[in-house]
Amino acid sequence: MSKLHADYYADSMQQINAPLERNDQIGEGTFLIRVAAEPIARTLVPGQFVMVRLAGTNAPLIGRALAVYDVICDDSGTPTWIDLVYLKKGTFTTALAESPLGAQVTLWGPLGNGFANRVCDRLIMVSGGIGQTPMLLLGKEAMASQDFGDDARENGWASAVEFIYGARRASLLAGVEDFEQAGFRITLCTDDGSKGQQRLVPDVLRERLAELADSGEKIRVVTCGPEIMMEKVAEACLAAGVDCQVSMETPMACGIGICFSCVAQVRQDGPEEWDYKRTCVEGPIFDADQICW
Ligand SMILES: Cc1cc2nc3c(=O)[nH]c(=O)nc-3n(C[C@H](O)[C@H](O)[C@H](O)COP(=O)(O)OP(=O)(O)OC[C@H]3O[C@@H](n4cnc5c(N)ncnc54)[C@H](O)[C@@H]3O)c2cc1C
Ligand code: FES
Repeated sequence: MSKLHADYYADSMQQINAPLERNDQIGEGTFLIRVAAEPIARTLVPGQFVMVRLAGTNAPLIGRALAVYDVICDDSGTPTWIDLVYLKKGTFTTALAESPLGAQVTLWGPLGNGFANRVCDRLIMVSGGIGQTPMLLLGKEAMASQDFGDDARENGWASAVEFIYGARRASLLAGVEDFEQAGFRITLCTDDGSKGQQRLVPDVLRERLAELADSGEKIRVVTCGPEIMMEKVAEACLAAGVDCQVSMETPMACGIGICFSCVAQVRQDGPEEWDYKRTCVEGPIFDADQICW
């Protein structure tokens, strides 16, 4: 059955009830949870997400989409736990932040298409705000430090990985040490200059692409964060002729292709030809030049 058909997800995805084994604050208003979810951990690819609910409560009734941040293996190397990172923002994330260890969550997935693993010399990951969450796994796959997917799709497809990450202030930059440990070249930016460069990430990317223009390297860019930031990143890549994929974060209700709450305008055969695409099943990853910003 086609992966674009809601029944594929309705009948094939894994739903898991599991207790919170971690719920740690890792930045201002930013938390990391860990749950045992082996069937999801074993099959997901970078850029996919899960829908999450607090079990046994109707507040809120509808699950929320969270990108999978990390996959943790047990002593035998079996992918067993997934880590999710969330920013405390509204109904669900506030309730989750207040949940003690052992509280049961319900999650279903893995959902969405995930990033492509196209071979390149240099992968540049560009994130703003809470948009770092889908990047750690992708960088690890690109550097061959971890395998993902049921069929262990190809890893080691980039020779170098860079991470350009911006937030309003230093305290909102969360998980930087995980990206450092993974061995990526990191550039941090803040709006107020409290950490790294006092610049916007699309400007940093534009400069980096100009520096690399004569290198002869095949460069790929991936981006996740506020839509205006992704639009600017996409523009910079288009101008430089660089392949770019974006991870869209349109609000979702079902996560499995049924409700059409998550649609984005996506180009089809030409600049004027577009259709609404469900970001939960046809995305959330799209080639940047397909998006009607
Ligand atoms: C594919 C995907 C992956 C995501 N990954 C993460 C992640 O890794 N970490 C994370 O913290 N969040 C992520 N999100 C956003 C997350 O699903 C929730 O929307 C967010 O956490 C707010 O939920 P809430 O119940 O706390 O807030 P709510 O009470 O639902 O809403 C608070 C405010 O945020 C607005 N809002 C709700 N959803 C969105 C959205 N998707 N985009 C913009 N504004 C919105 C509402 O209109 C409202 O103003 C992702 C969303 C998608 C679609
Ligand atoms: S969230 Fe329901 S169709 Fe995408």
